Amino acid sequence: MTFIPNTFGIRVKADRFLEYDSEEELVTLIRSGAVTSPFLHVGQGSNLLFTKDFPGTVLHSRIDDFEEVDRDGYSVTVRVGAGVVWDDFVEECVTRGWYGAENLSLIPGETGAAAVQNIGAYGTEVKDIIAAIAAIDVQTGESRVFSPVECRYGYRQSIFKQPSYKKFIVTSVYFRLSLTEQYALEYGPLKEIESPSLRKIRDAVISIRREKLPDPAETGSAGSFFMNPIITVSHLNDLQQTWPDIPHYPVPDAETVTYPTEGASASPADCVKVPAGWLIQQCGWRGKSQGRAGVWEKQALVLVNRGGASGEEILSLARSITGSVLEKFGIALQMEVNVF
Ligand code: EPU
Repeated sequence: MTFIPNTFGIRVKADRFLEYDSEEELVTLIRSGAVTSPFLHVGQGSNLLFTKDFPGTVLHSRIDDFEEVDRDGYSVTVRVGAGVVWDDFVEECVTRGWYGAENLSLIPGETGAAAVQNIGAYGTEVKDIIAAIAAIDVQTGESRVFSPVECRYGYRQSIFKQPSYKKFIVTSVYFRLSLTEQYALEYGPLKEIESPSLRKIRDAVISIRREKLPDPAETGSAGSFFMNPIITVSHLNDLQQTWPDIPHYPVPDAETVTYPTEGASASPADCVKVPAGWLIQQCGWRGKSQGRAGVWEKQALVLVNRGGASGEEILSLARSITGSVLEKFGIALQMEVNVF
């Protein structure tokens, strides 16, 4: 029996672990009845926390196609297999002189999962370069193509995370990259790059990530454990009485405000985003441990496995942190990581 891949390094098994190399092979598996329910599709498991063995089928794509499907004077469209390692795709774009993926360098995981969770970093989200998603319905084996609008992208959100759409397995992602020079350099340290190029930006992003985040080869983690919470401006004003320097950012208009802490929905203009890492640090958690689970020394948003931690141990630390932040700031942190 194979262990389920996961970057926290938790040793868990599934009743059945199936891998496939093509869309046809996946459809054959489905139609033969091999994909028993419940099922879970994983990439490298870089956003998952397992607290127990998975009582069902775990699927993993090894579809690794990379095909140019369209090109005009300004852009190129490529179809990329869901099993392609995300950072290999970014490197390929940078090497070929295609603009748009470079800020997302070194994010762990695979292409299919990147599109499902709308990965983002340094002012860019993957939705910005997605042209379409090809998926298979695990109940029927039929294929379906989703436009970016149909994917209903938001901050670390897509339709594929909703219960009724979890039956779709992403097999390929179509990306549209620019052939004309354009960069997203709003994020602090990237602003300082002189005469920017794709390679310079990729190198800068890689060095920022290596500085702040644990090396996945050495320390188990799932990147940011919580999402950055959205609170109302009036809540912010209250907090500023005690913490005048609380960092906060505007919420983009297009972003769905899914969890203002007060519960009621509010328009993005009446809300701000607060870095969860700052809140957690203020509660004194940065660098601390609880059992074999810990909070990363250089970025409090990242929970780590200090060695041999169980999923329950990491979840218990997460609950302690959530409790502290709620008590001190009245903000309910939401997990970015999916817990099983
Ligand atoms: N901060 C602290 N203490 C900390 C961490 C952060 O005070 O320990 C404050 C600082 O004010 C800092 C601000 O938070 O200026 C923002 O920190 P950072 O730039 O590291 O980004 P983040 O908001 O903590 C988000 C993403 C990351 C992404 C970075 C860069 C989420 C949940 N996380 O983190 O994504 O790499 O921005 O764009 O949105 C991931 O999703 O796994 C991930 C790593």
